[in-house]
Amino acid sequence: MCGIVGYIGDKNVYPILISGLQRLEYRGYDSAGIAIFNGDLNVYKCKGRVSDLENHVADKDTGGHVGIGHTRWATHGEPNDRNAHPHTSMNGNFVLVHNGIIENYAELKTTLQKKGFTFQSDTDTEVLVNLIEYFYQSGEEMDAETAVRLALSKVVGAYGIVVFCKNEKNRLIAARKGSPLVIGLGRGEYFIASDASPIVEYTDSVIYLNDLDVAIINKDSLTLKTVENAPVPFKVTKVDMSIGDLEKGDFDHFMLKEIFEQPKTIEDTFRGRIKPDHSDIVLGGLLDIFPKIMQARRIILIGCGTSWHAALVGEYMIEEYARVPVEVEYASEFRYRNPILDKNDVVIAISQSGETADTLAALRMAKEKGATILGICNVVGSSIARETDAGVYTHAGVEIGVASTKAFTAQVTVLTLFALKLAKEKGQIAPELYGSLIHELAEVPDKLKSILVMHPHIKEVAAKYKDAINALYLGRGYLFPVALEGALKLKEISYMHAEGYAAGEMKHGPIALVDDNLPVVVVAAKDSYYEKIVSNIQEVKARRGNIIAVVTEGDDTLKAMVNDVFEIPKSHPFVTPLLAVVPLQLFSYYIAVMRGCDVDQPRNLAKSVTVE
Ligand code: AGP
Ligand code: GLU
Repeated sequence: MCGIVGYIGDKNVYPILISGLQRLEYRGYDSAGIAIFNGDLNVYKCKGRVSDLENHVADKDTGGHVGIGHTRWATHGEPNDRNAHPHTSMNGNFVLVHNGIIENYAELKTTLQKKGFTFQSDTDTEVLVNLIEYFYQSGEEMDAETAVRLALSKVVGAYGIVVFCKNEKNRLIAARKGSPLVIGLGRGEYFIASDASPIVEYTDSVIYLNDLDVAIINKDSLTLKTVENAPVPFKVTKVDMSIGDLEKGDFDHFMLKEIFEQPKTIEDTFRGRIKPDHSDIVLGGLLDIFPKIMQARRIILIGCGTSWHAALVGEYMIEEYARVPVEVEYASEFRYRNPILDKNDVVIAISQSGETADTLAALRMAKEKGATILGICNVVGSSIARETDAGVYTHAGVEIGVASTKAFTAQVTVLTLFALKLAKEKGQIAPELYGSLIHELAEVPDKLKSILVMHPHIKEVAAKYKDAINALYLGRGYLFPVALEGALKLKEISYMHAEGYAAGEMKHGPIALVDDNLPVVVVAAKDSYYEKIVSNIQEVKARRGNIIAVVTEGDDTLKAMVNDVFEIPKSHPFVTPLLAVVPLQLFSYYIAVMRGCDVDQPRNLAKSVTVE
């Protein structure tokens, strides 16, 4: 979690830090802070958003050409002014911003306290900055870089850091292990950030730091080495991201913009991957590894949150069409439960950010056990994308709203392509069906447009239910994960308790919740489970629940039976999740807006969960 920025060059650093932090605010917004060096070291920080920081510094000296900034998602110590970053070492020689967790901070803190160090905050980060100070003071000849490397060799955990030493005024030192850091290369200037979004305004040439890399950054030179002092070669990458991607345009929120982008993003995901005549699918990123995938005894899909929901849809699709056993696992469970894995397994990590700590760790564990590891990621150059044997990018573009929307439909699109391709190569699908399912997928963007135009109706329905305390979401088959995703969206952004359930399971417990106050959202598009779900609707109706149903256009039976409907165009059940989820995204969006919630930055959450 948390966003880090840094700059060294000739420009005035303050606006660069502030706009960088605004771009990274999706990563955490408990507090914000900056340190600027202009002869003196000025550190300003406060609880709250970047806008609170701007007010806080309004009458202060913000001049200077070197600086670092941080927007926090607290792990150690409550979100308050004292725990906000940057943190300064006891003697004031070092100032540091940190993303991650120093797991052995308690023991290091005790050791430092015995040596006379005192602490101002409850954070693990302050321990690290003092550990650097400790090494700095341990020898006459010591320089900041060596002190940083020595300190990092003692810490257990994850870090992305940028450090400044008062005695080496024209230098920043950055390092990473587990938390992402990107360095932007300008002319006579360098930018540092947790992702490329604060950098693209200035340069498209970046270096992604690898784990255990340390960067020594002067205004006009950059040196990369490892924590052990071995040289690291440069690998400059071009970033494909525009400023327009990072702005809301005419939309009130990023989430709404991203929901409305889906006809385009789904098309971007399959463009170039399905042949124009719909005769075949080409997944370039998997070409070389496909023979291995073909031999896999089973496929394990891992992810967290929304990405886990996409994995569930993938499981249904791959098993039904390719007839390969699939398991879906929460990455956070999988990584710790010593699963049985070997070289006959293919593990596919699904992640928008490509940085989720649990997913990355689960993947590494799977690799160690000999499995082939693949990634379905949105962020190009992210850790998961770089560490996997091969993968497929989702190409949904930058997703800024903390609640994932277009990334989910892009993930499901990739899984659709993957399931079909595997089915074809395994000879499990008739050529006619293969072609017609590709055709169905190609039609999704236009069908989605016809759902999006119904947003005023969805808003009206949202107004009716905005004050509910609980909500239940039900679905079956391919639409069960959609129900889970709908419920997650509602709780994330509107703080209304919502539970997603397999409709057939309702009678085993959740039915006890049903009364005339409970909105029950049923994803009931026409598929092979239709009759069954109609029975489940009757069961809810008999107990006077309020039913909002996602139905297939023209389904007058259900229309007459339930309180409200969101219609979606007729489609093959295989692609229906891509359509059915969209009214639920809009429904939760409007409810959250009407409840006065901060849609793009919901409380307690952060976009990219780079801690355990
Ligand atoms: C989605 O709305 C959530 N904010 C969250 O569940 C998210 O999907 C999860 O943290 C996984 O993130 P990733 O896809 O970047 O790995
Ligand atoms: N562990 C640090 C803290 O609690 C950094 C957290 C983060 O990565 O946002 O302040």
